[in-house]
Amino acid sequence: MSENNKTNTKAKKGLFVQSYGCQMNVYDSERMVDVLAPLGYAPVEKPEDADLVVLNTCHIREKATEKVYSEIGRLKMQKEAKQKAGNGDMMIAVAGCVAQAEGAEIMNRAPVVELVVGPQAYHHLPELIARAARKSGEVLDTSFDAIDKFDALPIKRENTGVSAFLSVQEGCDKFCSFCVVPYTRGEEFSRPFAKVMDEAKSLVDNGVKEIILLGQNVNAYDGGNNIGLAQLIEKIAELNGVERIRYTTSHPCDMRDDLIAAHGSIAKLMPYLHLPVQAGSNKVLKAMNRKHTVESYAETIAQVRKMRPDIAIASDFIVGFPGESDKDFEETMALVREIKYASAYSFKYSRRPGTPASAMMYQIAENIKDERLQALQALLAEQQTAFNASKIGQEVDVLVTGKGRNPGQMLGKAPWQQSVFFAGDESMINKTVRVKAVGAGLNSLAGELLKADANA
Ligand code: 5AD
Ligand code: SF4
Repeated sequence: MSENNKTNTKAKKGLFVQSYGCQMNVYDSERMVDVLAPLGYAPVEKPEDADLVVLNTCHIREKATEKVYSEIGRLKMQKEAKQKAGNGDMMIAVAGCVAQAEGAEIMNRAPVVELVVGPQAYHHLPELIARAARKSGEVLDTSFDAIDKFDALPIKRENTGVSAFLSVQEGCDKFCSFCVVPYTRGEEFSRPFAKVMDEAKSLVDNGVKEIILLGQNVNAYDGGNNIGLAQLIEKIAELNGVERIRYTTSHPCDMRDDLIAAHGSIAKLMPYLHLPVQAGSNKVLKAMNRKHTVESYAETIAQVRKMRPDIAIASDFIVGFPGESDKDFEETMALVREIKYASAYSFKYSRRPGTPASAMMYQIAENIKDERLQALQALLAEQQTAFNASKIGQEVDVLVTGKGRNPGQMLGKAPWQQSVFFAGDESMINKTVRVKAVGAGLNSLAGELLKADANA
């Protein structure tokens, strides 16, 4: 009988996980696949082919949230078509930060959704799916226990590429006045150092060469026994097989001296730092509850550049925060001109229910937000292109990730995070090659192959 049961549970079922929003969600989506593998679920290419579709949602801005409901509508039609054609069924699950923030509302507004699971509870998916299938019991789980979750997740990582995310820290205690993260992801929690190392080793065993350490405030990492992010990076750099380490995303207030120094002393730590400033006016930063000033931020960047002069600096920006005047916005533009960014994400302020900023006076008109965003993005695009162009003529090590669009063209990543295209062959995939940069665009470099194995 146990034999039979085994075959039953191992029968292949299609799984489609759609990830929205940040890299934490990409990591969580991969882990959901790992959690569901023992139940016989295997990833499929299209939602139509799936027995279970999970939408791993983002709540950071209004637009991201609205996407969920339109996607549920589309899936509902596909589910009905499947049932009509006698092609089985499709269970629809909503996970992630929208699930956390408005779980019950989702189930009311879209009864086709059979289960809702928050970002700290997805290790309960097997049980929730069973309950949903039996149509009995609570199928909404937005419990908060990051320790529990990480303990329940399998350490072994499979199906990774040459570059993989590794979540080391979750949640946020900073409470920026515009942001939902402290509410959807809960308080700051760091995974214990030994657990992180075990997962890093599993990634290396699986052929991963680049490890990207993830956290909402990754530089607040505290693994116990005086292991902060700098020490963690140092230990991961000691693992044979690891070639590149990155971390994202950071808060300016947690940029400790030892982490800044690590950029100068650890060769495997890539020259790229995503350090969001959000705005260039001290008045706005104060209203945002950012707890740093424009000057302290610029000073941190200067220190990092002292350690690693070629480092690519990236940031997030919000325009049109309540009370932002033309002068405040001009200060953001001035800061951008001073820092000179290699890349950036910029957004119009989006009013999020329950956050302090949503109740502030002097909300900014949409057309003004549009104008400011356009001006900022034009400046940032100019800087990004200039940064890439500054690499022309240099030798660049490229971690090859796959084939390019054109025949004979390969694609990889430069140390500063841009894509690099060059003429090569498939034997180079998952290896580091050396090219000479001969061209640059907004998002990529063009290279000419110098050495097929840069480590030889
Ligand atoms: N409106 C616009 N952008 C936001 N972000 C966070 N909350 C909001 C909001 N309410 C941006 C910040 C953050 C990034 C992940 O999203 O720039 O760094
Ligand atoms: Fe949100 Fe601020 Fe925390 Fe970043 S630091 S997750 S912007 S509250």
